[in-house]
Amino acid sequence: MAHLFNRNVVLGVSGGIAAYKSAELVRQLKELGADVRVIMTRGAREFITPLTLQALSGRPVHSELLDTEAELGMGHIELARWADLLLIAPATADLLARLASGRADDLLTTVTLATASPKLLAPAMNQQMWRDPATTANVTALAERGFHLIGPADGEQACGDVGPGRMEQPAAIARAAADLFSSGLLAGKRVVITAGPTREALDPVRYLSNHSSGKMGFALARAAADAGALTTLVSGPVQLPTPDHVHRVDVQSAEDMLRECLDRVPTCDIFIACAAVADYRPVAVAGEKIKKGAERITLELQRNPDILATVSARADAPFTVGFAAETSNLLAYARGKLENKGVDMIVANDVSNSTIGFNSENNAVTVLWADGSKDLAQASKAAIARELIALVAERLGLAGD
Ligand code: C5P
Repeated sequence: MAHLFNRNVVLGVSGGIAAYKSAELVRQLKELGADVRVIMTRGAREFITPLTLQALSGRPVHSELLDTEAELGMGHIELARWADLLLIAPATADLLARLASGRADDLLTTVTLATASPKLLAPAMNQQMWRDPATTANVTALAERGFHLIGPADGEQACGDVGPGRMEQPAAIARAAADLFSSGLLAGKRVVITAGPTREALDPVRYLSNHSSGKMGFALARAAADAGALTTLVSGPVQLPTPDHVHRVDVQSAEDMLRECLDRVPTCDIFIACAAVADYRPVAVAGEKIKKGAERITLELQRNPDILATVSARADAPFTVGFAAETSNLLAYARGKLENKGVDMIVANDVSNSTIGFNSENNAVTVLWADGSKDLAQASKAAIARELIALVAERLGLAGD
């Protein structure tokens, strides 16, 4: 069943009578596992108190855009980045109009513009307002821009009218929110993903390694699992929780990682190498801690096996995806890697830009394959991961639902 575990949901509440149902919606979202932060418009606060939504979400409610105190806590850009999903329920006719015209005149509309996360709207208004051509045009424009919609439902309205305009039930909205994360694109496929750094032992207490956080690989594992794949994450040492429904295998060295991957290749459909594997390991691992002594010592290093190239060279190779982190000539080097390593797809990212790559929360990449490419604009690693998984599914000819 679809869930929202480890998902950050920003719930926007605008000013309509259905705002009273937002309290139940917060409860339903939390029941599905979400961490919920509420943004209320000024109008919403006329219908329901921030205190109610704060008590239910367990988080302070956000309302003001131009409030120095609020911006010090979690400002509009942080909220926008924090969100894995922006859900607006109820979305009034006025809010739909402001969103459609791209306004940023309060906190909710500003966060909507500033977030790269998926957006789900649950409209609620009087049936005549819903039927008005202005509202129809706004809803069409928003849908064309990728906003998802649920409802409105038909029936008796608070104003006494009967017709379309009632906000969908909170349980249905929460389910629709969870369903957005489970595309089913890779249903039943077996996916192996490498992530994080490797550690190459020097002696019992020291090792060679790198600063990889593992965030991109973990985001990919989550996106693959959400797409219905049976996902195994072969991870070097990182400080990250295992995503739900992902089988995690912890390893230390490149050789361990290679062994664990090769064990799984025969039954694997897609192999994604996201790990920052150490290129070299010490030739000899000292049995005892190396003692300080000589002014200079020399470390002899041995090339590590290339896990990605080893997997892609096999006769039973799955669809293989590699990463190319470069500081210059990004696309030329990446295309070189695509050919040299014999992989089906390479994801190129420019690590000279400190706002993306290695330890940052965001990424921006260009994906290359034999006869094509696609740029994925800067977004959270979770958003990039979802797009990458969708692209892999597309290259494999797996249709979306
Ligand atoms: O050659 P380079 O290290 O730049 O290639 C990066 C890609 O190759 C990444 O996908 C990385 O996970 C993979 N790789 C690997 N084994 C290595 C080195 C890199 O799987 N020993």
